Amino acid sequence: MNKTALAIVAVLAIAGGYALWTDGAGTGGAKTDGAGTGVTGHSMVPPDTSGIATGGALVDVVLPASLSAPARTGRQIFNLACASCHGTDAAGRNGKGPPLIHRIYEPGHHGDQAFMMAPRNGVRAHHWKFGNMPPIPGLSDGDLKQIARFVREVQAANGIN
Ligand code: HEC
Repeated sequence: MNKTALAIVAVLAIAGGYALWTDGAGTGGAKTDGAGTGVTGHSMVPPDTSGIATGGALVDVVLPASLSAPARTGRQIFNLACASCHGTDAAGRNGKGPPLIHRIYEPGHHGDQAFMMAPRNGVRAHHWKFGNMPPIPGLSDGDLKQIARFVREVQAANGIN
């Protein structure tokens, strides 16, 4: 293959991945595809969220029929301490914080340790264009474990394993 052909293939591959990202569910809606298959490895192109109002949810979150007791507590803590940026039930808030009910945060990409580290140390913006996450004080290890449990149970209910 000559260089021009290679370049075209590369552009098509990127455009294809991007299309999966922004509209992988084929719904034509503005929301990003949280459970989509457009992510490979740890890298991702931040989806175009310009069609969503600032503060609007970035994914549709399906809650499981029931949550375990730790996950129920984790949900309460999450919605108090994290939802101002990550959205109610981790659906994301455009311009503020990403949905954690999203393929990029599946256990294989972001283990439960990420849920301990992020609130302790803060997070430098690297996957999204929503700025840095500051450290969130005042939460115990037990609180953070319950938050992680909540996120995992909801991820599973949304096909993210
Ligand atoms: C002030 C806004 C804000 C608050 C409050 C906030 N976050 Fe975040 N968080 C962010 C942003 C923005 C990112 C995305 C950084 C990136 O990857 O670009 C993020 C990323 C994360 C990540 C992914 C870390 C990684 O390794 O990539 C986890 C996990 C997380 N947050 C958990 C939490 C939890 C749990 C809480 C509540 C205790 C919380 N966040 C509160 C803004 C916030």
